[in-house]
Amino acid sequence: MDLSVDLAPGRKPGLLLTNPVMIASGTFGYDGYGRGIDVDAPLAALGAVLPKTFTRYPRCGNPEPRWFPASFREGLVVGETTLLNSIGLTNPGIEAAMADLAPRWATMDANIVMSMAGDSPEQWEEMAAMTSGVEGFAAIELNLSCPNVDDGAMFSHHPRLTEAAVAGVRRQTDLPVWAKLSPNVPDITEIAHAAVAAGADALTISNTVPAMHIDVDTGRAVLGTGYGGLSGPALRPIAVALVHKAAQAVDVPIIGVGGVMTGRDAAEFLMAGATAVQIGSANLADLNAPFRILRELEELLTAWEVGAIRDIIGKASIA
Ligand SMILES: Cc1cc2nc3c(=O)[nH]c(=O)nc-3n(C[C@H](O)[C@H](O)[C@H](O)COP(=O)(O)O)c2cc1C
Repeated sequence: MDLSVDLAPGRKPGLLLTNPVMIASGTFGYDGYGRGIDVDAPLAALGAVLPKTFTRYPRCGNPEPRWFPASFREGLVVGETTLLNSIGLTNPGIEAAMADLAPRWATMDANIVMSMAGDSPEQWEEMAAMTSGVEGFAAIELNLSCPNVDDGAMFSHHPRLTEAAVAGVRRQTDLPVWAKLSPNVPDITEIAHAAVAAGADALTISNTVPAMHIDVDTGRAVLGTGYGGLSGPALRPIAVALVHKAAQAVDVPIIGVGGVMTGRDAAEFLMAGATAVQIGSANLADLNAPFRILRELEELLTAWEVGAIRDIIGKASIA
């Protein structure tokens, strides 16, 4: 079974991954950076791993509580539970990340894709320049879409800001660049076109949906910031539709993210037009979930007598 996918086909030599299943940014172990990660299979068995987003300067994140339900780590119930988070891009800043974390990842036998977020077009470019010469990254994903910060990080709500951020990074790196987009836009194709025009090699769709939950017994919002980002199974139909739309509009690979809990969910994104998938919430509930999902996907394709993953990409029909 040929599970390989190229996530930068427009760029020499491309970015060939052995399979399409990745760990989504912010969900690589409980700290987001893979510290203390203990999984049954080697990380190299996955297509790629994305550590949590870095910003230019350290961020301590949002007030607690940052999660709902607080008990999700004991098991996210497939098809039932939805996760809300308001982490607020807690991270040590790009300088510390490049100095302390990157050397450790460089020794890992896995494709590590850096995720970063700037707060102005100039800052995106500056951050990309700071990664130059740092070993160990297969690509850079631009988090243009974190809903949990209030200082201008929602670049992917605006075509012009999307274009400026991607173009700035593109000027400073030869690595493949993926643009991670927000689900919360009137027309995903407009933003997708802007990212591709500026040089994005692939699009990641999507980040979490802005959401709120109120505990009616206390009358209080369950998250410290009131609003947070919704992920998990409830996000999947939204993200599948966005992937389907974007795949009709642009000619670069799309990475589907949102509520992939099983191999069938991954297949759904591929049929919608995604070339690969990222696993977020499922991975937080069970660090072995991405490996299981990959196995299930392979079993499914075998049962369907599909010889290569590309044979199902974009094969969904309407009616
Ligand atoms: C706790 C948590 C932290 C996250 N942190 C980041 C982040 O730092 N950068 C980013 O691009 N996405 C972040 N995300 C979004 C995920 O990468 C993913 O896009 C989203 O959760 C949808 O996928 P899922 O339904 O599989 O979780 C985070 C999600 C969660 C649940």
